[in-house]
Amino acid sequence: MGKQIKKIGVLTSGGDSPGMNAAIRAVVRSSLYYGIEAVGIYRGYEGMIEGDFESMDVRSVNHILGKGGTVLKSARCLEFHKPEVRAIAAKQLKEHGIDAVVAIGGNGTFTGAKLLWEEHDIPVIGVPGTIDNDLHGSDSTIGFDTANNIVLEAIDNIRNTALSHNRLFFVEVMGRESGYIAAYTGLASGAFSVLIPENETTFEDLIEKLDKGRRNGKTSSIVVVAEGNKWGGASEIKQLFKEKAPSYDAKVTILGHTQRGGNPTCFDRILASRLGVAAVEGLKEGKAGVMAGIIKNEVKYTSLEDAIQFKDSVDEEIVRVAEILSI
Ligand code: F6P
Repeated sequence: MGKQIKKIGVLTSGGDSPGMNAAIRAVVRSSLYYGIEAVGIYRGYEGMIEGDFESMDVRSVNHILGKGGTVLKSARCLEFHKPEVRAIAAKQLKEHGIDAVVAIGGNGTFTGAKLLWEEHDIPVIGVPGTIDNDLHGSDSTIGFDTANNIVLEAIDNIRNTALSHNRLFFVEVMGRESGYIAAYTGLASGAFSVLIPENETTFEDLIEKLDKGRRNGKTSSIVVVAEGNKWGGASEIKQLFKEKAPSYDAKVTILGHTQRGGNPTCFDRILASRLGVAAVEGLKEGKAGVMAGIIKNEVKYTSLEDAIQFKDSVDEEIVRVAEILSI
């Protein structure tokens, strides 16, 4: 059991994700429920360095459960890579009596959280908030389900127009280093092919598959491309087609930040609520340097190091099933 925690700071950092607000609400309300003060830290680590803090009460988190984005704002703070800057942040926390932190975010957020814990003995628990679903230690990250549903709706719409014009569409989805959104929405939308950072498909493979589809009477096709695909995003691929396979009438749709800005689904609200409470309860029990996650419907704590290092990549089963069904 660690020292008794009296004040918990909560922050969101990195790319925002739908459900972050639900997680903030859960951290604030469960802290207060257990008689612990709650403080909002604005703009992630940027606000921590500057002491941009606000005391939160039960009503501070009214009506945010179903809203996308993050009321605490978010930032990618490169300054936090410097030990001397982290020391300033730790000093700010100590001066404001914040004796533990819940950090909601992804890889970058957890790297900062781990260093804050190791270097300054400030107990930190991470909550996985990223649409990328690429953290080890939780079956799903907060925002992944919402992003998938937004993409799915868009692809269903694109399919209608693709069919009308006998067109080939490259739909680009987010995921600089992770193909989760592409693989899941590819399977769920019946896409012809999915191009993700994790797989080895070559341009020649894709052309061959498309040609075969054409011979089998396929008149239109959707290819879902993760932005981090090895041989380029959707626009680069379209250019390749223009040069090497001009007989295809190819179009590009880049879904961009629409994927991140939606209101959270029921699944993400529940996940965020459970994990926010789990983070506070973990801190109360003396846990630190871990991420709260849900595996097989049970709360589990995984070291931040493992959560980052053993980054999960897309389950082969999803890719395999999509492949079988897209003949
Ligand atoms: O990490 C979440 C994410 O949405 C990635 O999928 C994407 O590559 C990146 O953030 C985009 O970041 P930004 O909004 O800073 O351009």
